[in-house]
Amino acid sequence: MSQTPQSPRKILITSALPYANGPIHLGHLVEYIQTDIWSRFQKMRGHTCTYVCADDAHGTPIMLRAEAEGITPEELIAKSSIDHQQDFAGFNIAFDHYGSTNSEQNKQLSQSIYLKLKEQGYISRKTISQFYDPEKQMFLPDRFVKGTCPKCKTEDQYGDNCEACGATYSPTDLIDPKSAVSGATPVEKETDHLFFELGQFEQMLKEWTKAGHLQAQIANKLDEWLESGLRGWDISRDAPYFGFQIPGEENKFFYVWLDAPIGYMSSFKEYCEKSGLDFDEYWKKDSNAELYHFIGKDIINFHALFWPAMLSGSDYRTPDGVFAHGFLTVDGQKMSKSRGTFVMAKTYLDYLNPEYLRYYYAAKLTSRIDDIDLNLEDFAQRVNSDLVGKVVNIASRCAGFVVKKFDGKLAESLSADAQTLYQSFADKSETIADLYEKRDYSHAMREIMALADKANEYIAETAPWVLAKEEGKEAELHESVSVGINLFRVLMSYLAPVIPATADKALAFLQLDSWQWQAVATPLLGHEITKFKPLLTRLEMADIEKMIDASAASLANTKSSAPDGKKGDSKPAKKAASADYDAIAEQITIDDFAKIDLRIAKIVNAEAVPEANKLLKLTLDIGLEQRQVFAGIKSAYEPEQLIGKLTVMVANLAPRKMRFGVSEGMVLAAGPGGSDLYVLSPDSGATPGMRVK
Ligand code: MSP
Ligand code: ZN
Repeated sequence: MSQTPQSPRKILITSALPYANGPIHLGHLVEYIQTDIWSRFQKMRGHTCTYVCADDAHGTPIMLRAEAEGITPEELIAKSSIDHQQDFAGFNIAFDHYGSTNSEQNKQLSQSIYLKLKEQGYISRKTISQFYDPEKQMFLPDRFVKGTCPKCKTEDQYGDNCEACGATYSPTDLIDPKSAVSGATPVEKETDHLFFELGQFEQMLKEWTKAGHLQAQIANKLDEWLESGLRGWDISRDAPYFGFQIPGEENKFFYVWLDAPIGYMSSFKEYCEKSGLDFDEYWKKDSNAELYHFIGKDIINFHALFWPAMLSGSDYRTPDGVFAHGFLTVDGQKMSKSRGTFVMAKTYLDYLNPEYLRYYYAAKLTSRIDDIDLNLEDFAQRVNSDLVGKVVNIASRCAGFVVKKFDGKLAESLSADAQTLYQSFADKSETIADLYEKRDYSHAMREIMALADKANEYIAETAPWVLAKEEGKEAELHESVSVGINLFRVLMSYLAPVIPATADKALAFLQLDSWQWQAVATPLLGHEITKFKPLLTRLEMADIEKMIDASAASLANTKSSAPDGKKGDSKPAKKAASADYDAIAEQITIDDFAKIDLRIAKIVNAEAVPEANKLLKLTLDIGLEQRQVFAGIKSAYEPEQLIGKLTVMVANLAPRKMRFGVSEGMVLAAGPGGSDLYVLSPDSGATPGMRVK
């Protein structure tokens, strides 16, 4: 595939479109850095590679976020687009075009694709029953309904799955559901929705998913899915919704995930208008241009099932590859706001050079979908030993001699040994190119660092600093430092897709115009270079620490938004520390409060419920009577710790039938949940049955 110098390929690549309701963080950057490296590599190879992206601007979370900030969605997404593009530029991500899904171009394309699908009979209409917020007067997406998990009874769970026991269900299965928008109890309401009939693409998808467009891990997973049959995909949402109106319908909008991938096309279309590329040549059915999507593993279904089906159903070409990557962990754990490891792009840039992170991610990325870990100590160590210690060091050790002793000129010719050494570096060119092509960057970095070791050995052996002090060793010295500079140039050329800003500085030092993959075939002989200026400084652990502290401080009071319709990474960490407080609930009157009968209760017995991993069964004495209450505090307390303790209970809560028996009230506890939960106790003197006022 990557044989050169072949005729140039026409390649269009994309990264997933970031949601416009949140800032870019180090997790996102795994993807944008991965794609940017690939794009720069292809360009260096002389191919026509176009890298487009856009903000994903539609959907309920964006509508509600704008409302909460007291601005229009258009204002919110305009601001977000600027922020995102600044962050990306800060990390040297070089898009050829950055659009928005809320563009005229995207509206046109979304409508025309929908109409084509409809014309072909792929769209159906069904009445569904969905939760509706009677106060806010809107239908509620699953993630905007919260309640008690029907399976394990953990409270405050989202409408699609339980974080405690992992059960998946529909919002209407929740016990005591509440709208996360207004707090009101939602009602079930019927409405018509439009469906994209995925079932009609079963054969097409069975073939497509096995035709080498996907990583093996993914193809296997999808195979299971396809075997169990495909249901229609719900592509409409009722007003109020921030998105595009569906033609021919009243008050219906495209679900954000319908027009989002079409954003790839429309962003490219905008690029065609400014660059003169031909849109149809890339997107027509029998196109010979290549199309690849880089995505995270959480959005595979959208890209490997819905998207190819939509494209095929509307007579466009399908992607040649969907490349999924894993998620970022920091020091082996999920990114966490309270620990300060949920680092925003901006915060990083305040303290550290983006090239460090680009290199570290490259050193970790493979073509697989395993998660990748940013280990902060390893990060510093790796960057310092590889980039600063091994690569940049070569130039700094040799350049001075070239400039001072040889007027900046490299030797005119090399000895046979030196030529052989140089050739062994240049010969690695195709091996390394293949590794980039396959997105096995980690392996490519190992190959490059092995060469860097070899270059350093050569310099240590020829010892230019010794030669410089000896009489009559001019020619040897000249060769030694000229070879050093030449090997440095090969290494920098191989690293240029990864550390482009450093490579650009090296261009200036080497007095070259550009990096081209094939150029290393010939060494620089008799070529003039200029004075060496430091290309990259050491990464100081202290700066990492400052960044983490700043990150923890800046996020202490924020609540993150849950993306629409998928399990986002941006939910607050489960075992939240004191930093993650819920917002104050809606105001109530004193009369509302008076309705709650709070009583001092003595826990006379506590035992584990073996079938439920969260629950303890408590027997409470409230003076006049005893109550049985199931409380989700098993991870925080041993039953024995509780027996004899006084606490506060809600005594007039309607009894609730659970799998293990009836729960006749609730005890009060504070904290985010899990093991981080504290049962409330009165001061001494209070006795069971006293009313709490
Ligand atoms: N808007 C959708 C994508 C629509 S594409 C037509 C979306 N946006 S996102 O902002 O949530 O994520 C953008 C990309 O960043 C996704 O590919 C996602 O997988 C990736 N990542 C977000 N958080 C991540 C990590 N913590 N780690 C690695 N990648 C992550 O999904
Ligand atoms: Zn559960």
